[in-house]
Amino acid sequence: MKNIAILCSGGDVSGMNPALKRFVEYAKEKRLTPFFIYDGYEGLIDNNIKEATYSDVSGIITRGGTKIGSARSKRFMQSKFRAIAKKNLDALNIDMLLVLGGDGTFKGLHTFYKEHKVKFCAIPSTIDNDINGTDYCLGVDTALNVIKTSVDSIRDTASSFSRAFVIETMGRDCGYLALITHLTSGSELCLIPEIEYELSSYAKEFKSQIKNGRRYFISIISEGIKQSAQEVAEWFEKDVGIEARVVILGHVQRGGNPSVKDRLMAYTFVTNAIDALLRGNEKSVICHDNFGFNFKSIEEVTGSKKVLDKKLLSYL
Ligand code: F6P
Repeated sequence: MKNIAILCSGGDVSGMNPALKRFVEYAKEKRLTPFFIYDGYEGLIDNNIKEATYSDVSGIITRGGTKIGSARSKRFMQSKFRAIAKKNLDALNIDMLLVLGGDGTFKGLHTFYKEHKVKFCAIPSTIDNDINGTDYCLGVDTALNVIKTSVDSIRDTASSFSRAFVIETMGRDCGYLALITHLTSGSELCLIPEIEYELSSYAKEFKSQIKNGRRYFISIISEGIKQSAQEVAEWFEKDVGIEARVVILGHVQRGGNPSVKDRLMAYTFVTNAIDALLRGNEKSVICHDNFGFNFKSIEEVTGSKKVLDKKLLSYL
C-alpha cells in the first residue's frame, strides 16, 4: 500500500471538511493509506501527522472550517524547516501530498518541490478567488452565500430608515467577492481595488436619486481599496447628505455550512487530484473553468496575478 497525506494551509474555507472526507474515502478505495497533516506546514515540521480513519471524517461534511486545522507558517519559508518536513514524510513513507490553500501556500509548496521532489497536487482553496489559472477556488460559493444573507438582512434595516450602508467584504487585494455581491444584491455602489474611482463622481447622481425618492443606499466595498469603510460612510454623510452606517463582514465570511456547490467541488477536486497523482502527474494545480477540470503547472499558477473577468468588470 502507498501512503498519501493531505494538509490545509492559509485561510480556511467551507469545503475543506467535505474535501477531507472524500480524501479518506477515495484514498482507501484506491488502496492508499491516507494521512492527515495537522495545522498546515506547521504540522509537517512538527511531525503532527497521523493516519486518517473513517471515524475521523464521520459527520464533518456539514461543518465549515477544517477539522485538521490550518496555519500560515513562517518557519516553512526557511529551508532548514523544509528539510525537517521532508524527513518527517520519509519516516512515514509518504510521497504524495494533497495541499489545500491559496497563492502563498502554493509558493511554499513549489519551493518544497524544487528542493525535495515530493509529489503533490494543489487544490485552490480560498474565499478570495484570487488564484491565477482557475475560475473557481473551493469555499467561494459558501462565502458568497454568507455575504448574500448578510446583505439581505442589512437591506431590511436600511429600507426601514433613510440610511446608507457601507458593507466591507474580504478579499485581501482582490475584489471578486465584492463584485459578485454587487451584481447579485442590487447595491448602488461597488468599490474594488482593481478599478480606479473617485467618490466625488457619484455625489451628484446620488443626491438627485434622493430628491427623486430614494430612501437608502447599499454599497459594497472590498478590503484593499484606497479608503476605509468609515471614510466612505463619512463621504455619504457629508457629500451626499444621508446618515450612514458601516458593516465590516470580516471572518463571518469564512465560516458556515458548506454549500452544495462547495461540497460537490470538494468531492470532484479531491477525486481528480488523487487520480492525477496516481497517473504520475507530480507537481500540478487542479484548476476549474467552464470546460471542467484541467491541470496547470505550479509555475504557471503562481507566476502571475489573477485578473478578474473583463465582462463582469465592465458592468461596474
Ligand atoms: O485569504 C483569505 C482571507 O480571509 C482574506 O480575505 C483576508 O484578507 C485574510 O484571509 C485574513 O486573514 P486572517 O484570518 O489571518 O486575519
